[in-house]
Amino acid sequence: MLKKHKTHNFAYKDSMGVLHQLSFKPHSYPNLMEYIRDQGFEDWGDCRGRSWCGTCHIKTSENANLPIENEDEQHCLLVLPNHQNGSRLACQILMDENIRELEFEYLGDN
Ligand code: FES
Repeated sequence: MLKKHKTHNFAYKDSMGVLHQLSFKPHSYPNLMEYIRDQGFEDWGDCRGRSWCGTCHIKTSENANLPIENEDEQHCLLVLPNHQNGSRLACQILMDENIRELEFEYLGDN
């Protein structure tokens, strides 16, 4: 018997200001950047998830508990001119239960 994977939801406001309600199965994608890119909402990910380019810069919900876990992301965020509290790189956010019911918003790299 196949084990069923529970589906979770989150919201994403894209670079055009359109809010999308999205659902996913945990770990169905390597990270949030690739998931959003494959939905066709953003043409981003120039460095392919290495925390170098900043194109996948997003704002997270105030209630998000998504601590930054690597120095490369921290460094990349600090040099982005529109960095703010709650900024993250979507390529460093895993598609797991921690993003359930959160809202993300495109910020970009300028
Ligand atoms: S894809 Fe380049 S920083 Fe995320």
